[in-house]
Amino acid sequence: MSVSYAAKSLSFKALVVEEQETGEFVAGIKTRQVSDLPQGELLIRVAFSGLNYKDALSAVGNKGITRRYPHTPGIDAAGVVVESLTDSFKAGDEVVVTGYDLGMNTSGGFSEYISVPSAWAVRKPQNLSLRDCMIIGTSGFTAASAIYEFLQHGIRPESGKILVTGAGGAVGSMAASMLSNAGFSVVASTGRKEAAEMLLKYGVTEVISRDELNDPSSRPLLPGRWIAALDTVGGNTLSTLIRSTADRGIVANCGMLAGNKLEVSVFPFILRGVRLVGIASAETPMERRLEIWKLIAGKLSFNFEALVSKSIQMDEIPDELHHMLNAGTLGKVLVSI
Ligand SMILES: NC(=O)c1ccc[n+]([C@@H]2O[C@H](COP(=O)([O-])OP(=O)(O)OC[C@H]3O[C@@H](n4cnc5c(N)ncnc54)[C@H](OP(=O)(O)O)[C@@H]3O)[C@@H](O)[C@H]2O)c1
Repeated sequence: MSVSYAAKSLSFKALVVEEQETGEFVAGIKTRQVSDLPQGELLIRVAFSGLNYKDALSAVGNKGITRRYPHTPGIDAAGVVVESLTDSFKAGDEVVVTGYDLGMNTSGGFSEYISVPSAWAVRKPQNLSLRDCMIIGTSGFTAASAIYEFLQHGIRPESGKILVTGAGGAVGSMAASMLSNAGFSVVASTGRKEAAEMLLKYGVTEVISRDELNDPSSRPLLPGRWIAALDTVGGNTLSTLIRSTADRGIVANCGMLAGNKLEVSVFPFILRGVRLVGIASAETPMERRLEIWKLIAGKLSFNFEALVSKSIQMDEIPDELHHMLNAGTLGKVLVSI
């Protein structure tokens, strides 16, 4: 669709990653114009973004994430519509964009302006601020997508314990805190001592070592320990926790940090009625996406500010992404744009 923004010649600041002749990728703040952006239906003045691992990969030239440079990463953005070419949004609307192609091969949220299809935008829920929405971001939306599946399956706080793996990570810590605040009894698995301290502060009932979820036996069933599990890790962790899920329980998997193969017999499914669901949050259809944001703003809402480990400005992003790749992060790094 061809668009003609009145603001096309408007200049703004964005973080731009450029590929050098040496093959290195260098990120810096550049001045850009609205006419440099893709021709979307919505021009949005971004207020907040947040850091995600995918952004760190995009910033170091990972071609599985971003094929063409120069590029502005940032898979999450929240801000205010400046111009709209559709009737579904108007100037002044506060919106949130997470997932789809934002920040991958479409100029992303580490920028004062983005231009996106209106089908990618979600109206900001009334009782959340734009800042809250970016503390939540893709990781919180992914965690809530799994919790949505648990609730649809009939899981309630009195149903039993809920396991969260990789609980020190972005998705895991979001899930652990959302579930704990909603009154669920959460077992958090982590490999890091400092993450264990943080998770207990978030209100989880029990912290276990990630080694406990690496059963080397080929036993088809292990004692049932939880009624639901969100797994961010995959591999033998996923196999172990499926075999340890109680009767009629549910397991949601979203990641593969410990491997992308799953070896498990069918016994948990045909003897215990365990259900396995996959989470693919980036392409969540809009109807379900709106339901999940409603859940986040309702039952799963709490003081999201408690999850922010650092608030930074755009020029601090490269150092923080470097730290994320090399040392990992605890909690949310929020970016004011
Ligand atoms: N499907 C989707 O829609 C979707 C959306 C977002 C993310 N993801 C995926 O979900 C996963 C988690 O994302 P994230 O943003 O939470 O990542 P993250 O912040 O890097 O956290 C990952 C956590 O996993 C644990 N971990 C790492 N390597 C491990 C290993 N070898 N064995 C066991 N545990 C390990 C660590 O937790 P501890 O330090 O606590 O042990 C780490 O903090 C990633 O694979 C990501 O690609 C999927």
